[in-house]
Amino acid sequence: MDYSIESLSLDKLETDCVIVGIYTNQQLTPSASFIDNNTHQLISNLIERGDIKGKNSETLMINVVPDSSLARVLIVGLGDADKFSAKLYRKALSAAIKTIKATSCGSVTCTLAEVELKGLDFQWKTRQIIEVFNDAVYQYSQTKSIKPAVINLKKVQISASEAVKADAEIGLAQGIAIANAIDLTKLMADLPGNICTPTYLADEAVKIAEAFPNLSAEILEEADMEKLGMGSLLSVSRGSRQPAKLICLNYQGGAAQAKPIVLIGKGLTFDSGGISLKAGAGMDEMKYDMCGGATVIGVLQAAAQLALPLNIIGLVPSSENMPDGDANKPGDILTSMSGKTIEVLNTDAEGRLLLCDTLTYAEKYNPDVVIDLATLTGACLVALGRVASGLLGNDDELCDALIRASETACDSVWRLPLWEEYQEQLKSNFADLANVGGRDAGTVTAACFLSRFAEDFRWAHLDIAGTAWRTGSHKGATGRPVPLLMQYLLDRAHG
Ligand code: BES
Ligand code: MN
Ligand code: ZN
Repeated sequence: MDYSIESLSLDKLETDCVIVGIYTNQQLTPSASFIDNNTHQLISNLIERGDIKGKNSETLMINVVPDSSLARVLIVGLGDADKFSAKLYRKALSAAIKTIKATSCGSVTCTLAEVELKGLDFQWKTRQIIEVFNDAVYQYSQTKSIKPAVINLKKVQISASEAVKADAEIGLAQGIAIANAIDLTKLMADLPGNICTPTYLADEAVKIAEAFPNLSAEILEEADMEKLGMGSLLSVSRGSRQPAKLICLNYQGGAAQAKPIVLIGKGLTFDSGGISLKAGAGMDEMKYDMCGGATVIGVLQAAAQLALPLNIIGLVPSSENMPDGDANKPGDILTSMSGKTIEVLNTDAEGRLLLCDTLTYAEKYNPDVVIDLATLTGACLVALGRVASGLLGNDDELCDALIRASETACDSVWRLPLWEEYQEQLKSNFADLANVGGRDAGTVTAACFLSRFAEDFRWAHLDIAGTAWRTGSHKGATGRPVPLLMQYLLDRAHG
């Protein structure tokens, strides 16, 4: 998709369709008013007739505009002006692109960045148009011999007056970089486990690093991890024919001495549960158990594309979790890189076994903060559903910054407690800790486990089990939490 900023007045535009907004109570956005005044009150007349009320996400396509140079006008309802919000803005955009997608329009001009939204600038509003539109036109076709119907739309213009053009251009660059990162994340996640293996993920990371001079990739092989004593991580890949990889991306955009932000993403390219085998129903979705890792790779690409003035390390421990004669068995005891011993009570709690050694490895970077993202627990889905990612951490300031970023990015998180009392559940009679803490508070005890390997730095954990992909007839990766992390990084870069 070609995205650009357009400052020409609406009557001079060359476009197949202009998108304008109306609120309930017959209120028009400035561009809707302009068109209304130049078309003998066409829009007002349609409202008068009751063809559109202005409810949020309502749409009305005017396919012919008499006595006008405009080819088409799409009116989008925004809802009540006094209740308008960031989320409703995105919802209206989503309705608009859904309508456009189904038409023959090859180009479209969106005027909706002009709407009033408290606390949100033109830059943000521009960026959201690109994020929402690009999400809607994503189509997975890699492994289909019969390709999905092509979307005619090729060009999206965002109209911005000269006064806000500079802001719009920044939003455009951010929007494109974030949308590209989301595309990349979704594609890697949607690919099946027999194509997207740990080796595939590592190759992708190397390819991306080659495109930017200040982004480099290093892949730790099993022999390297052996030397580092990563007994916990390696115990998971032992049951798989695919060799594990620890993908290390290093982006140096900040001052040489500036401490890095370390992002760690769980990269299980397929999680069968291992010897504690999962039930059959829906097991295909465990190809998505690498969404955290895909997000980290996407975010590093976007950070490099935007040349953010930060140092960022991306670590993706990647493996399969399979049943095998050499796989972990319940009762096995592992020695992690930290020296702590772990009793494997359930081989399906494998994510934390990879993450704990990666957290220990992260210490070598002397991190400013460490944020891990993982499709870690089914319990998170039970607790928060598919709306919010779970957030836990050992530092209030970091958690608050992530909550603020999630609100700005409309990529929700909800914090859960990480209190000492929960650590009780991880007690083991035979090792320093057990890898599971029973049925109760599964998301909390998983984070408690990780916290034991994150004692020496500021750390936050995002459980994205409910938010990284959609299930059912719209099954597919969402690209979350790329928007949240990008907002956090943008805030860090400019704050
Ligand atoms: N990858 C799963 C978590 C998961 C399950 C994500 C369902 C999304 C949907 C993880 O490795 C896992 O299996 N966790 C176990 C932990 C349990 C054994 C303590 C779970 O959630 O059942
Ligand atoms: Mn598992
Ligand atoms: Zn898993």
